[in-house]
Amino acid sequence: MTSVPPAADQKLNDDVLWDDFDPGVYISHNYLEMQAVDEEILSHVRDHFSDHFRGRGRVASGIDVGAGPNLYPALAMLPWCDRITLLERSARNLEYLRRQCPDYAPHWDQFWNVLCKDEAYATLGMTPRVRFKEAIQQPESGSLFDLCADTRRWDLGTMFFVAESITTSLAEFRRGVGCFMNALNSGAPFAAAFMEHSEGYRVGSHEFPARDIDESEVRAVLGGYADHVEIHRTANPKQLVRDGYTGMILACGQRKERRDE
Ligand SMILES: C[S@@+](CC[C@H](N)C(=O)[O-])C[C@H]1O[C@@H](n2cnc3c(N)ncnc32)[C@H](O)[C@@H]1O
Repeated sequence: MTSVPPAADQKLNDDVLWDDFDPGVYISHNYLEMQAVDEEILSHVRDHFSDHFRGRGRVASGIDVGAGPNLYPALAMLPWCDRITLLERSARNLEYLRRQCPDYAPHWDQFWNVLCKDEAYATLGMTPRVRFKEAIQQPESGSLFDLCADTRRWDLGTMFFVAESITTSLAEFRRGVGCFMNALNSGAPFAAAFMEHSEGYRVGSHEFPARDIDESEVRAVLGGYADHVEIHRTANPKQLVRDGYTGMILACGQRKERRDE
């Protein structure tokens, strides 16, 4: 049997030097000042989690996959789970996350303030920094793709700009989404964000790959794993703060009943 060689311009996840990812440059471009698009996305995520958990107790565990130097998905999970795993492949991003755990940087407060428009966040009972430190403890070095074989399961999950932004391969994109879904317990609420029609992106002097995907691809791939999926698309040209893409797609839903339980 002969294997099909990958296309010459294909860049798989393992082909990339993820330790070249510069968290400082990435943050200055994306998260030092909150962009309107992130505020919009974060508001949807807050409402999704808050609607799901209203009247129920806190669950044990949450996971943010490919956390990179972005704390806002974890902040959105703070009221709802005891522990949060921040899973990340790049050593530099892990180092950034480790440094944020004891006392995160003040620019993340603007994101927390958006979350506090919901009472559950505003009445957390302790400062978000204390809760963050308690919930995260240690960011975890690892790969999204290893979650497919991992026997651990989480009760809540986020994955922001990862599955489509770590490869040019459609098969890898789909596998990545499947591995994220594999990590979640039946009924677990999740939020996953994707760049639409991304051509790849630059962080400082390094280029990183992306798979061009759209809303129908996101719906199709999630359809096998998730119920009640709601898609929010943001495509205001004034909000295209990152380069080489046409918009952002946020998918909020719940993990389907698993057949392996
Ligand atoms: C575009 S960044 C997104 C970072 C962050 N989630 C955000 O919202 O800005 C993609 C992230 O995925 C990480 N990554 C790349 N390959 C990965 C893998 N196989 N497993 C987990 N994370 C990975 C990168 O190091 C980087 O932090």
